[in-house]
Amino acid sequence: MKVFVSRKIPGDSLERLLSSDNEVVVSEFDRPLTPEEFLNSARGCDAVLSLLTDKINGDVMDAIGPQLKIISNYAVGFDNIVIDDASSRGILVTNTPSDEVNEAVAEHAWALMLSLSRRVVEADESTRRGSYKGWEPGIFIGPSLNGKTLGIVGLGRIGTMAANRAKGFGMRVIYNKRSRDEEAERELGLEFVSLDDLYAQSDFISLHVPLTEETRHMINSESISKMKRGVFIINTARGPVVYEQELVNAIREGHVGGAALDVFDNEPNINPELIAMENVILTPHIASATWEARNKMGTQAVSAILDTFSDKKPDTLVSAETWENRRK
Ligand code: DGY
Repeated sequence: MKVFVSRKIPGDSLERLLSSDNEVVVSEFDRPLTPEEFLNSARGCDAVLSLLTDKINGDVMDAIGPQLKIISNYAVGFDNIVIDDASSRGILVTNTPSDEVNEAVAEHAWALMLSLSRRVVEADESTRRGSYKGWEPGIFIGPSLNGKTLGIVGLGRIGTMAANRAKGFGMRVIYNKRSRDEEAERELGLEFVSLDDLYAQSDFISLHVPLTEETRHMINSESISKMKRGVFIINTARGPVVYEQELVNAIREGHVGGAALDVFDNEPNINPELIAMENVILTPHIASATWEARNKMGTQAVSAILDTFSDKKPDTLVSAETWENRRK
């Protein structure tokens, strides 16, 4: 079988694929591929190990060819792939969900929240510029987390792990999700509230929803107007959940006290106004970048391909029904 890996991935999982009986081509470029580059290499392959930066719809699948059996996406999210197009063609799509990734993303949300409240990035930059001239009472003051309210939007696994970490910081945690999670409420002491109440009561809002038509741009001028003045917003979910320009306007105008973003509305482009703002922290989509998470992602992505080739149902199918109608 022929496999195309659209970018070299960290860890040793690729070795397993390369030493299998398959013809494996790993992209020669260590950067996101253009659609043409992707297709040139993927055409004729039975499996593609893709990244979030590869946009794959039905036309791309058809151009790869009728032998394409599996798209193994090296990510938990799969909004880069049109799942219905894959399912209707009998092409399997897998992703890489795991506790390792969930923990990593929850930890990054906390890293951002702490850095934002205690102005760590600004203080570091200023110290490196040589502006520290001895202890000063009035520099880089921010709010304590203790006693504040954290609003978790989306209480899936990552949201739950992020909420769990709030205990140690003395925060009250409120959450919103489609259906109440009474077990998490009992175990973690969370309170379920409507979205409007979450906006009205939170000092910090951490976003943990997937990108859907419903969540696209849910953080916009209207929802922000319902938030407390000075609220801090943390996004480790998907960029388009936040309407970036409307967030910028709200930060400029002081309604939002600061934002920490790991993901962007139009990646890899970032609104230049955000880049210029001091009360904003920007990280390059690294929430899952722990060794533990990356190793697990690699193992899962490679296993999904090798399992498919040996006609074993992969554990990480995005749309399990496709297995019955899979291409052989
Ligand atoms: C994912 O897995 O969906 C992340 O955004 C990248 O690791």
